[in-house]
Amino acid sequence: MYTSSCLGLTAALYFAFTSASPLAGSTDPSDRPSCVPANSPTRSKVCHVKSHNDQTTDDSDYILSALHECNNGGHVIFPADQSYLIGTALDLTFLQHIDLDIQGHILFSDDTDYWQANSFKQVFQNATTFFQLGGEDVNIYGGGTLDGNGQIWYDLYAEDIYILRPILFGTVGLHGGSISNLNMRYSPQWYNFVANSSDVVFSDISISGYSQSNNTAKNTDGWDTYRSDSITIQNSVVNNGDDCVSFKPNSTNILVQNMHCNGSHGISIGSLGQYANEIDIVSNVFVTNISMYNASDGARIKVWPGNPSALSGDLQGGGGGGLVKNITYDGMLIENVDYAIEVTQCYGQKNQTLCFENPSNLRIEDVTFKNIHGTTSEAYEPLVGTIVCSSNSTCSNIRAEDIVVVGPTGNDEFACLNVDENLLVGLNCSAEAGQTN
Ligand SMILES: *[C@@H]1O[C@H](CO)[C@@H](O)[C@H](O)[C@H]1NC(C)=O
Ligand SMILES: *[C@@H]1O[C@H](CO)[C@@H](O)[C@H](O)[C@H]1NC(C)=O
Ligand SMILES: *[C@@H]1O[C@H](CO)[C@@H](O)[C@H](O)[C@H]1NC(C)=O
Ligand SMILES: *[C@@H]1O[C@H](CO)[C@@H](O)[C@H](O)[C@H]1NC(C)=O
Ligand SMILES: *[C@@H]1O[C@H](CO)[C@@H](O)[C@H](O)[C@H]1NC(C)=O
Ligand SMILES: *[C@@H]1O[C@H](CO)[C@@H](O)[C@H](O)[C@H]1NC(C)=O
Ligand SMILES: *[C@@H]1O[C@H](CO)[C@@H](O)[C@H](O)[C@H]1NC(C)=O
Ligand SMILES: *[C@@H]1O[C@H](CO)[C@@H](O)[C@H](O)[C@H]1NC(C)=O
Ligand SMILES: *[C@@H]1O[C@H](CO)[C@@H](O)[C@H](O)[C@H]1NC(C)=O
Ligand SMILES: *[C@@H]1O[C@H](CO)[C@@H](O)[C@H](O)[C@H]1NC(C)=O
Ligand SMILES: *[C@@H]1O[C@H](CO)[C@@H](O)[C@H](O)[C@H]1NC(C)=O
Repeated sequence: MYTSSCLGLTAALYFAFTSASPLAGSTDPSDRPSCVPANSPTRSKVCHVKSHNDQTTDDSDYILSALHECNNGGHVIFPADQSYLIGTALDLTFLQHIDLDIQGHILFSDDTDYWQANSFKQVFQNATTFFQLGGEDVNIYGGGTLDGNGQIWYDLYAEDIYILRPILFGTVGLHGGSISNLNMRYSPQWYNFVANSSDVVFSDISISGYSQSNNTAKNTDGWDTYRSDSITIQNSVVNNGDDCVSFKPNSTNILVQNMHCNGSHGISIGSLGQYANEIDIVSNVFVTNISMYNASDGARIKVWPGNPSALSGDLQGGGGGGLVKNITYDGMLIENVDYAIEVTQCYGQKNQTLCFENPSNLRIEDVTFKNIHGTTSEAYEPLVGTIVCSSNSTCSNIRAEDIVVVGPTGNDEFACLNVDENLLVGLNCSAEAGQTN
């Protein structure tokens, strides 16, 4: 099940070598990483993307023309010594059999009025993206950087929570491909939105970006999958302030492994059941070998209750139906995490009585948490976790084993409600009820 980094030995040596002696101005193609799907044909043509290289003139036309020139069988190089400014919302859903070799630096412009009017509206949770990239058999790699110019957005959001902050990387309608060996920095909002996609591997991605002002960078999820199947997210380092990886409605057959997450809200299923007229399904998810530091949660399932609830002005919902089924969290090391495990069907509803009066329309079945070790923070002391369903018929077969987690005073209590405690082997379900994050 475990796989090593997708940068093969050759590539690793290549990078070690070049960092000692950088090939400034090199326009050579990068080696293809080993996580490129085996059935992706090698490319037969090379295109170089031109740049004004001044970080003020929009380079979008140069990018589009290189992509069109090399589409259907080409290898497009963004050279290491070039920087690109993108000031135009690019619809890149036409890509077919193409590699994007991003060695240079790509910066998105800071024109917040332009982006709010022109970014791609993805509807779900009012998500918008700077660009949308899709098609078939597309591989993106190269060791370069995508920079979302987030600071201006963090400060604007502090003034108005209803602004639409673009997501850095929109993978929308991509069938077959890989996105690997890239740095993603300063996203205005989520870093990756993966929608309407299938058979895509994300690997060796570095995510980070902190606000320099007193306005924190909010909602900076590492990945959000939506209406997507057969997605792998692996071998990545995420330093952020919201979900490390999150599975939104209709995420199926997902593997997440070998992740280092710091400062996040955990590896989360949901939120689900937000929209009253929708059915949300998350099934066949396997999460393994995760290191989780300084986080609000380790393993998390968040489901809205049956009645309308509000988490904040710009995040409210409840009443939606659906199913969470066949989920396994196996292998997580936690340190300074508020809740090791949090399962709630009362997301957005602080009044638990009210939540239990209107149980969730979304069932949770066949979930296993195992091999979770480490220490929690003092945030919910004496609790280290909470597993609370909104009625005794909305959850079944939730299991735990080999959970060895303690808080700062040796505390190990879990709040367990409306679940079969016999299946939570070794959990100290002695607490009454849990606060939800
Ligand atoms: C995904 O596909 C559906 C159905 O074709 C479409 O309605 C939707 O706009 C697409 N994009 C997203 C982000 O859901
Ligand atoms: C978009 O945001 C508005 C304002 O917060 C909210 O009323 C609406 O429900 C949101 N739409 C979706 C699809 O979440
Ligand atoms: C942040 O807030 C503190 C306390 O309110 C203030 O002293 C400091 O100048 C602020 N820093 C910035 C960068 O605005
Ligand atoms: C677990 O993930 C870490 C990266 O967070 C990696 O260094 C380690 O090799 C992985 N372990 C296995 C057994 O794959
Ligand atoms: C890890 O997260 C903490 C808390 O958010 C933050 O203070 C720290 O700088 C992060 N570490 C790194 C390496 O980014
Ligand atoms: C999820 O999939 C189910 C079953 O195919 C479908 O009924 C539902 O409309 C989908 N929901 C979303 C949010 O796409
Ligand atoms: C449960 O999900 C795993 C992936 O985590 C998959 O391998 C397995 O086949 C699924 N089981 C069923 C019964 O679908
Ligand atoms: C966790 O946060 C502390 C305090 O900010 C920081 O010193 C530590 O490096 C963080 N851990 C990781 C793995 O980044
Ligand atoms: C919580 O909801 C119950 C049931 O509707 C209500 O009686 C109670 O007053 C509410 N509590 C608070 C603190 O609002
Ligand atoms: C579920 O709760 C109802 C009402 O409180 C109770 O009658 C029933 O026995 C419970 N069922 C189980 C399986 O605990
Ligand atoms: C469970 O928690 C209670 C309250 O903190 C504590 O007294 C008890 O020793 C714990 N039991 C086990 C088996 O850890």
